[in-house]
Amino acid sequence: MQPILPSDRVAKAVIPAAGLGTRFLPATKSTPKEMLPVVDKPAIQLVVEEAATAGLRDVLMITGRSKRPLEDHFDSTPELERALQDKGDTERLEAVVASSRLATVHFVRQGEPLGLGHAVLCAADHVGNVPFAVLLGDDLIDARDPLLSEMIALRERIGGSVVALLEVPPEQIHLYGCAAVEPLDAGTDGEAVRIVDLVEKPDRDDAPSNLAIIGRYVLDPAVFDVLADTPPGRGGEIQLTDALRVLATEISPDKGGGVTGIVFRGRRYDTGDKLSYLQAVVRLACERSDLGPTLVPWLREFLATLD
Ligand code: G1P
Repeated sequence: MQPILPSDRVAKAVIPAAGLGTRFLPATKSTPKEMLPVVDKPAIQLVVEEAATAGLRDVLMITGRSKRPLEDHFDSTPELERALQDKGDTERLEAVVASSRLATVHFVRQGEPLGLGHAVLCAADHVGNVPFAVLLGDDLIDARDPLLSEMIALRERIGGSVVALLEVPPEQIHLYGCAAVEPLDAGTDGEAVRIVDLVEKPDRDDAPSNLAIIGRYVLDPAVFDVLADTPPGRGGEIQLTDALRVLATEISPDKGGGVTGIVFRGRRYDTGDKLSYLQAVVRLACERSDLGPTLVPWLREFLATLD
């Protein structure tokens, strides 16, 4: 096995967070959608916790106007900490302090909403010429299912870029980037596949598979040069999927290393629209030891009162 050079290690995470959150208006009129609570933590904190758990303690958020609360949330809050300390409320004090110590969080603004690919390109100067992870905040991966660590391990073993894939019902594939895949060479994980083509949000009849890209990527820095030349695609936006397609199909593997996928079979929570957000909050609250034992029986009773 080849030794992993320092330049091959994945140490930085990029979290695009510039979206307007229009699906949650008016709640997101003056609050970023990333700050909506999932039980008692803002969704963005769960994403940063996931990055930190995978060993990524250098986090770059791609933000835009009206996203100041994100900066405040990951900063320390001396007044609040002092007040909690004076009250002897150590549990809440620890929770508050922990949120500002998860990672070193940097911010850069996207400026114009030109698409996910453009948001990732905004990270080029910060990331430099090393592989990095991208985590999309609308997808939450259960902390008990170590998807990102497996993706990083695959990158460190065989190079190239790695995307997370999920089998979805055919009627949902138009909501996602979709991958055409082949088995990886013998000797690699059963769940890992080679990606031979990608298409952003295909119609059901044109989709090459039912494998959807979910919002976790480990990217070779070659993606930046490709993104810089990627024209607007679906929806008039510069699409990350289109740049990955070039890495998978057009660029010599010596340069970008190709693209592989890991088919995820764990627990994923979508917080991208109202219904799935509510489902995520209820599922996660039911599993909490402080809330579940009261919430679950109440839910059962409540459901029995519905038609
Ligand atoms: C983005 C990507 C898409 C991916 C999805 C995962 O789409 O463009 O390829 O499948 O995230 O959540 P969005 O949901 O931002 O429209």
